[in-house]
Amino acid sequence: MSYSIKGRIALVTGANRGIGEAIVDALVAAGAKKVYAAARNTKDLAPLTARHGSRIVALRLDVTDPAQIAAAAKAAPDVQLLVNNAGFAGHTGGAFTDPEWITSGRREMEVNFFGTFALTQAFAPVLAKNGGGAVVNIASIASLVNFALFASYSASKAAAHSLTQATRAMLKVQGTRVFGVYPGPIDTRMAKDVPFDKTSPADAARAIIAGIEAGSEEIFPDPMSQAMGAAYLASPKELERQASATPA
Ligand SMILES: NC(=O)c1ccc[n+]([C@@H]2O[C@H](COP(=O)([O-])OP(=O)(O)OC[C@H]3O[C@@H](n4cnc5c(N)ncnc54)[C@H](OP(=O)(O)O)[C@@H]3O)[C@@H](O)[C@H]2O)c1
Repeated sequence: MSYSIKGRIALVTGANRGIGEAIVDALVAAGAKKVYAAARNTKDLAPLTARHGSRIVALRLDVTDPAQIAAAAKAAPDVQLLVNNAGFAGHTGGAFTDPEWITSGRREMEVNFFGTFALTQAFAPVLAKNGGGAVVNIASIASLVNFALFASYSASKAAAHSLTQATRAMLKVQGTRVFGVYPGPIDTRMAKDVPFDKTSPADAARAIIAGIEAGSEEIFPDPMSQAMGAAYLASPKELERQASATPA
């Protein structure tokens, strides 16, 4: 079932840079009426407001801060489309025994899993009131198979994928659509040290919007995620073999 963006009111977390900023641009281009652009530091949203004027409403939001989450749900009571994009990758590479995997992994779980969960809990009644609406979780191809280079991040994104399934099952009763997005390497600050070809945030964002509008519950917005997504659907074990052959 398709889902049209035209005339919708959306909220995007981590909207100040990278994929989040590009998703805001793509939502506006697709005809969204208003986009709440959420960021930890609202000063970072100046380029978006300069580009799109009054269609952007800047919102201060750290997705790990319960008070800011509650305030955001109050300040944005007309949201129909919640895009959980904010994400964190704290540690890459090195030995399995490195204690930093645990330290960074806790923070990655806080942002990527608990932050997404808490914000969706806060907005579930808002979406229900506005006709059901939709939730879009920016997970990762690393949700579906672990990349040792990002061992703990991959685990946090696997949790985000599992949460996406729970959200779909549990909010179906209120008519909320749930989309999972599983990007491969996208050219942002997070992926600056990733040793693969990268897709631009603008191209990825356009593919994400196209996937939402097409009503695809699983969206693979770039060539690598499309190939790995197909491999996952054909044989998760074979994909694990492929991923374990990539650099760690
Ligand atoms: N780039 C890739 O290759 C790739 C691939 C698959 C999935 N993803 C996912 O795509 C999403 C966007 O990542 P990106 O590539 O655009 O990375 P990015 O450029 O590093 O952007 C991350 C964004 O998340 C925000 N953020 C981090 N912690 C936050 C918190 N506690 N509360 C609110 N916002 C927070 C950052 O805000 P600050 O500026 O305040 O730090 C920033 O806006 C993430 O969920 C990421 O896991 C990325």
